[in-house]
Amino acid sequence: MHFSTLTALAAFSATAAFALPAAENNADIHAPYAGPGNYILQNAATGTVLDLLNGVQGPNTRINGYKLNPGPHQIWQVSATGPNDEVTIINSATGAIASCPKVVNTPNGWFQLVGGEVPIDDYARFQKITNIDNSVQFKNLATGKCVDLAESNPANGTNVLCYDCHPGVGENQNWGFIKS
Ligand SMILES: *[C@@H]1O[C@H](CO)[C@@H](O)[C@H](O)[C@H]1NC(C)=O
Repeated sequence: MHFSTLTALAAFSATAAFALPAAENNADIHAPYAGPGNYILQNAATGTVLDLLNGVQGPNTRINGYKLNPGPHQIWQVSATGPNDEVTIINSATGAIASCPKVVNTPNGWFQLVGGEVPIDDYARFQKITNIDNSVQFKNLATGKCVDLAESNPANGTNVLCYDCHPGVGENQNWGFIKS
């Protein structure tokens, strides 16, 4: 990257950090993925984070959007499992592995992202697609769906879904990395 571009990015980032409240950080520049390690994954649309419901190890524990605590059930180990930025997302407190369900698993017809001890097959692997603001989409290898905060709802306990992918900036499928 050219030096002046870096400078401009840094200046923009600093401005955004002071100018925008946390819940409206759509234009914010996120810290990039920095290799295998523990991260808090923050939704670009709401500022809420990926949270394993009540820290229950599973199987089939709901994964939700929740206000940043940061508790151990909000910390996820993200590491590559394949050549094309394919990653697993594993809860660091419990070892619960995030996976998309094979079939609808909520009463209202959603595919709810769940945590538990599952085989590391394509339902538990996600292609990490990096956006221009360094946030990422996690696209499930088995279903082709993306990890999505339902209806961009900032409320605690909002379902996190495997949902049809829709790229963009500041979207509810974009997740920023906070090193933990
Ligand atoms: C979410 O829960 C936290 C406590 O864990 C609380 O402080 C916060 O106000 C709640 N947020 C909303 C939007 O209800």
